[in-house]
Amino acid sequence: MIHDHQGEGEAPVCVALNSMVIRGKEPVVVDTGEAANRDQFLADVFSLVDPTDIRWLFISHDDVDHTGNLNALMAGRSNATLVINWFMAERMGVSLAVPPTRWRWIGDGETLDVGDRRLHAIRPPIFDSPTTRGLFDPRTGVYWASDSFATPMLVPVDDVAHLDRDFWTQGIATFGQYISPWLALVDDRRYQATVDRVEALNPSVLVGCHTPAIRAERVPAAIEVTRRTPSMTVAPEPDQSVLDEIQRVLAVAA
Ligand SMILES: [Fe+2]
Ligand SMILES: [Fe+2]
Repeated sequence: MIHDHQGEGEAPVCVALNSMVIRGKEPVVVDTGEAANRDQFLADVFSLVDPTDIRWLFISHDDVDHTGNLNALMAGRSNATLVINWFMAERMGVSLAVPPTRWRWIGDGETLDVGDRRLHAIRPPIFDSPTTRGLFDPRTGVYWASDSFATPMLVPVDDVAHLDRDFWTQGIATFGQYISPWLALVDDRRYQATVDRVEALNPSVLVGCHTPAIRAERVPAAIEVTRRTPSMTVAPEPDQSVLDEIQRVLAVAA
């Protein structure tokens, strides 16, 4: 895991902004964090793998917190192939500086052979871009869930075992509904089938951009709360009255 987070010291909660490196025979970087963390992100990745040894860069979807350092990682001496899909290329448009000759398109349900293992692109149940695919490594049992299983933290931690259980499960439901407001519209039987699909992978560890690592008995717990997320009651998103208060405090401070 490559760790970053946002909001510490500024908000009541902070949010992880992780990415990942798979150090196999053909090293894979998974997502690239946000541009504001570029120097630290590149230093963290290159502490695990030499820039010229990175064979693949897998992007789960085209949001700025996942693509913030995509061009930077693919520049210079990089030999990596960029694993995206057709719609991601369309949606990134001119912001994508990598030429099509260095792309590979992998869709939901397809696999990527990385020498010593075949990685499975599996769309998670909760997502906020139509391009989203997670990534399952059958060799380690690690599933990269992209924006699924997201949760706020009071302080940065590296494992959800450090989060109060009720705070954590409520956090998953809250972020799930914020990320995917369409959950309120879906047929529950069909939605459950998307959770079944991840559960059937029998993942040993769930990781994602916006969650500390989820291990052991918290894996089935995360899956269980994801099943209930569409019908759970969560706090409303901050509205104009909250912004009024923020602006009042800023005016007093200025
Ligand atoms: Fe996203
Ligand atoms: Fe995200």
